[in-house]
Amino acid sequence: MQTIIEPFRIKSVEPIYFTTKEERETILRAAHFNTFRIKARDVLIDLLTDSGTSAMSSNQWAGIMQGDESYAGSESFFRFENSVRSITNMPYIIPTHQGRASEKIIFSILGGKGKYFISNTLFDTTRANIEFSGAEGIDCICEEGKHPTIPAPFKGNMDTVLLQKTIEQVGAENIPLIIMTITNNSGGGQPVSMQNLREVKAICKQYKIPLYIDACRFAENAYFIKIREEGYAQKPIPEIVREMFSYADGCTMSAKKDAFANIGGFLAMHDLDLALRCRNLLIITEGFTTYGGLAGRDLEAIAIGLQEIMDEHYLQYRIRSMEYLTEKLANAGVPVMQPAGGHAVYLDAKQFLPNIPANQYPGQALVCALYTHGGIRAVEIGSLMFGKYDEAGKLIPAQLELVRLAIPRRVYTQSHIDYVAEVIIEVFEKRDQISGLKIIEETPLLRHFTAKLKPVEN
Ligand code: F0G
Repeated sequence: MQTIIEPFRIKSVEPIYFTTKEERETILRAAHFNTFRIKARDVLIDLLTDSGTSAMSSNQWAGIMQGDESYAGSESFFRFENSVRSITNMPYIIPTHQGRASEKIIFSILGGKGKYFISNTLFDTTRANIEFSGAEGIDCICEEGKHPTIPAPFKGNMDTVLLQKTIEQVGAENIPLIIMTITNNSGGGQPVSMQNLREVKAICKQYKIPLYIDACRFAENAYFIKIREEGYAQKPIPEIVREMFSYADGCTMSAKKDAFANIGGFLAMHDLDLALRCRNLLIITEGFTTYGGLAGRDLEAIAIGLQEIMDEHYLQYRIRSMEYLTEKLANAGVPVMQPAGGHAVYLDAKQFLPNIPANQYPGQALVCALYTHGGIRAVEIGSLMFGKYDEAGKLIPAQLELVRLAIPRRVYTQSHIDYVAEVIIEVFEKRDQISGLKIIEETPLLRHFTAKLKPVEN
């Protein structure tokens, strides 16, 4: 087979800045071993997130010049609304400044003490917004999703038996929504099958619970369905996308992912009454209903990006990039999540650093090593992000200790990715030299963003 090439030419470039290993050691120490605290300029290849980091197309930039900045009823809003509706087929579309703003609105309205939100896996901001409202989030990921290095086609699926059991346990009347995260970010960017969506929808119907989709990476999920699920190989992506959304009563979206936008998001739904309540809160917190915390130009970029992302050449290249890096690492014996996710490559830090226990944050230790060794910024998705304490103050570790290398859309070339693979393999070869970390300062919610750490003395 021929090489799958980047389906774009580069018209505008941005420099990256080089640092030495010694400089990076100093920078990391000053940042208290938390790479969120490092200046982006001090990073060579920034794989912290695929969120808001996409390269926009010339069409999107042209759209930006068309932005209608009217406070109410701007033309850009109607173009945005049409674009979102063409994908979701939902009548009520509410712009927000990003995904978590949508979450804040919907969970403030539907959450509260005694309520439960069940998901395949809730993303960290989603869980935090649920918990902030006083409600509880419950993850019911399928068995395959719990084993990072064992391949399976749809490791993002909900465990439907566990879902049903959990509904019976907490009572359907206490569950305002069931949420399917597609692809499943915290579970490794793994897709959810159409079959699973259908089954979850049937359970939701039986218990009269609305089904919402966390749609951040809907196009990547659709492409996985196309190439992995029987009956979809010949279907165009927009058709698969429409079928996915046909099972949902509503969705939250961060346009910073599968809309190639640098900022933005939305809430969409079928329920008018709920939409009115969301709009009321939107006006207080985000802005008027036709801009929701965004400029008209942002709405244009999203409207265009949502359509561009469904291009099959793009999606083929996108998914292939993740496989390419995963294969290189797996061939060198690096414990990497298999198969590759849609937006990121995940290292299994438990296997990478078996001598570092969960309470010394092996994922974060690996993140730090990748930075000092090669100037690569990754992110820990493990016990630093998701760990909790029991009543005695002992760490309850996360199920998985992962390190995510999220690949910004249309930003890095194949040689950047080759370099990333080289650095990881070199760090793997020297893994015995990596030591664990302990937290010296943290906040009660989303502590990974700001926590300060230091190396454990051996
Ligand atoms: N849901 C999922 C599945 C996400 O991945 C994110 C963001 C959000 C909701 C929240 O959206 O950032 O626009 O407020 N994920 C980013 C990441 C931050 O790096 O994975 P947001």
